[in-house]
Amino acid sequence: MSEQSTYQVGKLLPNWVIRATDQIMDYYIKRYLNCDPIVLDRPPQPQSGHQYMLYAHIPFCKTLCSYCTFHRFLFKEYKAREYFVNLRKEMDYVKALGYDFTAMYIGGGTTTILEDELIATIEHARKLFPSIKEVSCETDPAQIATPTFRNLKGLVDRMSIGVQSFDDNILKLTERYDKFGSGAQIYDRLHEALELFPTTNIDMIFGFRGQSLEMLQRDMDLLVELNPRQITTYPLMVTSQTKKSVKNTIAAKGLELADQYRIIMNTLGSRYRQLTSWTFGRTHDEGFDEYVVDHDEYVGVGSGAFSFLGSNLYVNTFSLHRYGLRIAQGKTGVERQRHFDKHAVLQYRLLLGLFSARLSRKYFRQVHGVNLDRALFKEMLALKLIGAIKDNPQDPDNLIVTDAGKFLGLVMMKAFYSGMDNVRAELRKPLKDIDM
Ligand SMILES: C[S@@+](CC[C@H](N)C(=O)[O-])C[C@H]1O[C@@H](n2cnc3c(N)ncnc32)[C@H](O)[C@@H]1O
Ligand code: SF4
Repeated sequence: MSEQSTYQVGKLLPNWVIRATDQIMDYYIKRYLNCDPIVLDRPPQPQSGHQYMLYAHIPFCKTLCSYCTFHRFLFKEYKAREYFVNLRKEMDYVKALGYDFTAMYIGGGTTTILEDELIATIEHARKLFPSIKEVSCETDPAQIATPTFRNLKGLVDRMSIGVQSFDDNILKLTERYDKFGSGAQIYDRLHEALELFPTTNIDMIFGFRGQSLEMLQRDMDLLVELNPRQITTYPLMVTSQTKKSVKNTIAAKGLELADQYRIIMNTLGSRYRQLTSWTFGRTHDEGFDEYVVDHDEYVGVGSGAFSFLGSNLYVNTFSLHRYGLRIAQGKTGVERQRHFDKHAVLQYRLLLGLFSARLSRKYFRQVHGVNLDRALFKEMLALKLIGAIKDNPQDPDNLIVTDAGKFLGLVMMKAFYSGMDNVRAELRKPLKDIDM
């Protein structure tokens, strides 16, 4: 068991609030998260004075996990090499539109699957966009054991490694034990990886079937021993894409989320700073945690990448074949769009404020030109009534997000990410063999 923590989480939310939140989120997701029928050639040009982040998607994995909701295909080297070449060309087209970026987030899939191509891509991005100060990548516990993994040192500022659990039963349940090693083997490998990058993040998941509170506590204790700079603890998301394979086998049956979250907060809360509802950092200055929180606007390159610009979500083609054709025709991957009205954008920003426990009246006033309490009157009233937020008498511009509010942020973000997966599911549905 962990040593006695000085931090103890207060009361979280009753189950009826979680259920009601899920229903409300479901309503908004159905209403907002779908694409307009038009097909675009490229994203719009940048707006002067705006700051942007570059997101690049690498949709390849050597093995496909049944619970995974991300856009990924089984790795074939020749396809992946061709893809990386196209990705760099797409970055050229984005540069020609006039964009510059302060940061780059490379997500997957497994971004390190071809290290030489990844390195060429990072170097190309840094040359095109000299304002990039931080580069973040994602990888898995098998990749960190390869001899070439060290080549990324000095190029990557933050490496995020998907561990999910150190418990062998959970690793077997998720079929990761044979592919990535036992919990003890992964733990040993992590020691070395932690030394390579300024920030290493470890991804964990809770909410697996049979994952007792003791098992989760042990996972948290092992993390505290390892002491990485950053830890992300995702609740298992079951979405329309993974429902069939996961719901009756891998996902926990009941609503145990609050008890599990209490263990996570009680163990990590006193040793780390909470950066979002599910990310913990040793300091506040951790570079990326959830890039959608830190960057209001971002441009996505690569198949299946999203961009958020102004009041619009843009979605790149999910077909590798179409992606190649578009790049050959001088177009970017951006194909579909969803416009949001002002109220929807404000609601989205409120969700991010709750999720990051940084809810600022000043931000809404200065960036969106509104009075938060009036523009989102019903939402703010509901959050206050259930004890998710409260006024800060010392600092009227910043609201306090309570532990219950952080938990609500987690429940809402989980629903939001699952909703984004519905967009992926809709756009992946027509894919044939030629597209993969
Ligand atoms: C895109 S993956 C990349 C990590 C790497 N490929 C690996 O598996 O180790 C990033 C993270 O998303 C999380 N993730 C994937 N599917 C999830 C799901 N259904 N629910 C919650 N988290 C999930 C995992 O923690 C994973 O490490
Ligand atoms: S969890 Fe990681 S390795 Fe597994 S399919 Fe998703 S991206 Fe690939």
